[in-house]
Parts: sequence; structure tokens; C-alpha cells
Amino acid sequence: MASIRKAAVVTGSNKGIGFAVVRGLCKSFDGDVFLTARDEGRGQAAIADLNKEGLQPKFHQLDINDQSSIERLKSFLLSTYGGLDVLVNNAGIAYRNADPAPFAEQAEFTCKTNFWATLLTSRILFPLLRPHARAVSVSSVLAYTAIDQCSPAVQGRFKDPTLTMEGLEKIMQEFVDAAKAGRHLEEGFPKSAYGTSKIGKNFMTVIQDRDIRKDPREDIVINSCCPGHVQTDMSSHTGPRNIDEGADTMVYLALLPPNTTSPKGNFVADRSILQWG
Ligand SMILES: NC(=O)c1ccc[n+]([C@@H]2O[C@H](COP(=O)([O-])OP(=O)(O)OC[C@H]3O[C@@H](n4cnc5c(N)ncnc54)[C@H](OP(=O)(O)O)[C@@H]3O)[C@@H](O)[C@H]2O)c1
Repeated sequence: MASIRKAAVVTGSNKGIGFAVVRGLCKSFDGDVFLTARDEGRGQAAIADLNKEGLQPKFHQLDINDQSSIERLKSFLLSTYGGLDVLVNNAGIAYRNADPAPFAEQAEFTCKTNFWATLLTSRILFPLLRPHARAVSVSSVLAYTAIDQCSPAVQGRFKDPTLTMEGLEKIMQEFVDAAKAGRHLEEGFPKSAYGTSKIGKNFMTVIQDRDIRKDPREDIVINSCCPGHVQTDMSSHTGPRNIDEGADTMVYLALLPPNTTSPKGNFVADRSILQWG
């Protein structure tokens, strides 16, 4: 029987940390690595840059805010590879501090991409994950600042060990609705839309890990992580780390060896588990 070719997908990888994750995986992953971008031109330009380094990533269009785009990628992966072995949920947005957009808009669009679109991508692509697959969700230590700003009641709801994905979505929607009503602080939510979206991402990983452990597919390992403060467009090129340093923990998590028991369902930075939840 012909051996199955493995596939890895990195969302939002035409630039920034995702681009460096593709570079790192091209050097170490035993299979095809997909650089994905919502804009085909930006994606192909990034592929050309990596080709100049002698690396051969493949390209597929992916806008995580567009369900049909995710479905097209799923169909392609199924027909070409029969499954998926690595998924790095990296794509994300952040409004700059000085952005004049109303907080209601910032809350809605930040959570839409960073939380709901990542969740939708996972719901569509996780069924393709093969035994021993690795999934990585890119979050931020700013989730700590945000959870510390939550009222004890809201913290308690997030940290409830029986919280389901539907329950988590409900809390996230309450945050967006409260922000639209100008009541998010009164209702015990943080002042940061980005930080709240990353709280959501961290608890999403906790719940996904709990659920996948009941799945008959063996040894699927899901973790979230913080890349550190990295010089990208998102950070206005501030911070001590270059994109390859930022990508290090993500590549490490994407390549965890077979039958890894730790980290598993954890929040990781600098290759070390941080306490979360
Ligand atoms: N930089 C840091 O210091 C830092 C720290 C902690 C966590 N992070 C996280 O690391 C991840 C990568 O950030 P970065 O710093 O590399 O930012 P970046 O340079 O702004 O790159 C973000 C990437 O996400 C893509 N993207 C945005 N919305 C998308 C969508 N709907 N569908 C598909 N792709 C989409 C962007 O595509 P376009 O080019 O089309 O916009 C771009 O490729 C994010 O999740 C971020 O929150 C970053």
C-alpha cells in the first residue's frame, strides 16, 4: 500500500509569526507544509520568499472568517491527503492602542476572528486530524491580564471545569453584547477586546483537549501557546523577539513526538507549561 503523505496547515501565514512557523516546519516536518493566506497574492509572494531560501511550502487560500473558504480547504485536504496531521491556528487580529474605532466594534471584530473564526476552523478541520496529529492555538499572555480584570463571578464562569464549548461561546457573546451596550466593565468583563479574545482561545483549547481525549483517534495533542512579544506588523515591530524566535514554541508543539502526555491541553510559552484555568 502506498504510504500516506502527511500535511500541516498554518493559518494566517503569509507574514509574521505564522510565516516563520511555516519556515520552521518546512525544515523539520516530514510531509507537506501549507502556507495559507486570505489573500492569494500575499500568499504567493510569501511562498516565493521561502522558495528563495530553498524551502518548498505549498499554498492554499484560507480566510478563517469565510466558512466556504475553510470548507474548500477541508475538501482539498481530504481528497489529496485523506486527513491532516498538524494544524496551527495562528491567524489573528489586534486593533492598535490608538485606533479610534469604538470599543463595541473592536470587541465584535476581534472576537469574531480570534475566537469564533478559530473555533469554526477547528470544528471543520479537527474531524480530519489523524491519530498522532498535533494542533496548536496561538494565544497570548495578555489573557492573564484580561482574566485578572474579570469580576470573581465572570472568572468563576470561565474557570468552571464543567464549562462546555457552548457555554464558553455564551460568555464570549455576553462580552460582545455588553461592549455594544457600553456595559462590559459593569458586567465584570475586561477592558481589552484582544485580551478577552485570548481568554476565549485558551479555554477553547482546554475544552477541545477534554473532548478529544474521549475520541477514538489516539494521541491527538492540542495546546495553546504565547509566542512572546514579537516584531511583527501586529506589534508595530516592537518587542525583543524576531519571528523565528516567536515561532519556536509553536513549531515545538506542532512536532511533539508520538504518545506525548505533556504538554497536552496546556498553555505553553518558551517550551514550558504555564498555569492556566
Ligand atoms: N506579535 C506579537 O508580539 C504577538 C504576541 C502574542 C500573540 N501573538 C499572536 O500571534 C499570532 C500571529 O500574530 P503576528 O504578530 O504574526 O501578526 P501579523 O503579522 O499581523 O500576522 C497576522 C496574520 O493573520 C492573518 N489573518 C488575519 N485575519 C485573518 C483571517 N480572517 N483569515 C486568515 N488569515 C488572517 C493576516 O493576514 P493578512 O496579511 O491578510 O492581514 C496575517 O497573515 C496572532 O494570533 C497574534 O494574536 C502575537
